[in-house]
Amino acid sequence: MALLLRTISELRSHLTAHRQGSRGNIGLVPTMGALHQGHLSLIERAIAENGIVVVSIFVNPLQFAPTEDLGDYPRQLEQDLKFCREIGVDLVFAPEPKELNSTGDTQALNGTTSVIPPQSMTEILCGKYRPGHFTGVATIVSKLFNIIQPDKAYFGQKDAQQLAIIRRLVKDLNIPVEIVPCPIIREVSGLALSSRNQYLSTTEKKQAAEIYRSLQSAQVAFTNGELNTAALVNLVKRQLNSTEEVKIQYVELVDPVSLQAIKQIHQAGLLAIAVHLGSTRLIDNIVLQKRQPIVAIDGPAGAGKSTVTRRLAQELGLLYLDTGAMYRAVTWLVMESRIAIDEEKAIANLLTDLDLKLTSPDSAELPTVVHINNQEVTNAIRTPEVTANVSAIAAQAAVRAKLVSMQQQWGEQGGLIAEGRDIGTNVFPNAELKIFLTATAAERARRRMQDLKDQGRDDIDVKQLEQDIKSRDEQDSQRAIAPLKQADDAIELITDNLSIEEVIEKISKLYNQIIEG
Ligand code: PAJ
Repeated sequence: MALLLRTISELRSHLTAHRQGSRGNIGLVPTMGALHQGHLSLIERAIAENGIVVVSIFVNPLQFAPTEDLGDYPRQLEQDLKFCREIGVDLVFAPEPKELNSTGDTQALNGTTSVIPPQSMTEILCGKYRPGHFTGVATIVSKLFNIIQPDKAYFGQKDAQQLAIIRRLVKDLNIPVEIVPCPIIREVSGLALSSRNQYLSTTEKKQAAEIYRSLQSAQVAFTNGELNTAALVNLVKRQLNSTEEVKIQYVELVDPVSLQAIKQIHQAGLLAIAVHLGSTRLIDNIVLQKRQPIVAIDGPAGAGKSTVTRRLAQELGLLYLDTGAMYRAVTWLVMESRIAIDEEKAIANLLTDLDLKLTSPDSAELPTVVHINNQEVTNAIRTPEVTANVSAIAAQAAVRAKLVSMQQQWGEQGGLIAEGRDIGTNVFPNAELKIFLTATAAERARRRMQDLKDQGRDDIDVKQLEQDIKSRDEQDSQRAIAPLKQADDAIELITDNLSIEEVIEKISKLYNQIIEG
């Protein structure tokens, strides 16, 4: 039951009671009301992530210029309250303007202490056309943070400049709140939802759909390799100009965090638009983002791939795609379901709804955290019983096809590292960085001998070891499934004279060169 609170003291006493009951985090969704599905997405996320949620509804006079629509801004508290009640908001804070202003002057910024964001972030994009707006936003949001002291606060990417400025504000003023960014919610036509869409006629709404279409064209061009700001901005302008009623105020491409102009996209760019349609001003944006690279490490057995890959995953912040753990998880599931290891059909059926998740552990020494069908099986998949059956399961075509397709699906997001024999040739032929990690058979024999000696064995014939390694390489490159093969565009790294640290450093360097473009 959403509870309407009009004063700071009422709100504070509710929150104090909540804190004393230690019933979880406090989430805040600041709004100016006239709530729609865009606001709803923020509120639902806040409800899912917090013990109590406050939605503030306040048409903040400080962020409107005298020429703007403060008087006309839609106010519909009754309807908003009903909306909040239906979705399960705990508290709605909707103060009168005088409640939030200690001087009694509810409109002028110069009557109150102001929070002024860095000029570099306010003199561009919307800030150029709305002087004082972001100071008004920063001031009211700081007040809400102080009144409510939320653990988390939710802001829409729809107002990308506002979001960037608030993230910076929280950082600069050390305000202990986590800012949660939420994606833009759109109508089917692509028009971003906004309280101001109420001002648009049916015809204008159709024309407004051109805004998102122009952003999508830029996305397509970017995906096809266009990184130049001028080219992307011009493309959007040309497309917007094709609808006569749409009057461009600005189209700019800037760094999404600092909001500074960029000539070229390296990792990410915020492409932002403001237009007038009749008397209504509309804004929209997209973030053009290169996916985090995929690193594929292939090579013969005994070249140190597994250690190097685990350590690199930690160092570069990538997910280690532990394919071994995936096959183990399936083996565990087959055994748990009491299906015989050779019942290939039944096993294939079992995998149709497979829900498998890998999560990075806290350190390179710990095993990958594995969930299968919502159950954590990190340790259960590493028993001797599973080990005994895993190669029989991995040899089944249906299992392999299912897991490779899962790996490729995860790969669409980028940001992972995998090792094997055919990662760069078969699983991720588009990987941004491919390494063929190898060492001469003599060196691998020497390393293996050292390992065995460390385990107390001193009866080893190193020549024999070398011979065995050579024939294993031969076998691996002849396999029907996943043969060992160096991709044409892989960088060969021969590790004979390199320590593990040196190998990791070399690959990290190559990775950073890719990131920096
Ligand atoms: P308002 O315009 O009401 O928006 C409240 C929040 O909803 C903002 O974080 C905004 O980005 C988000 N939002 C609006 N439309 C959205 C959409 N289509 N998809 C996703 N999120 C959307 O922004 C303000 O109010 C004010 O400036 C405020 C922060 C409350 C300060 O007064």
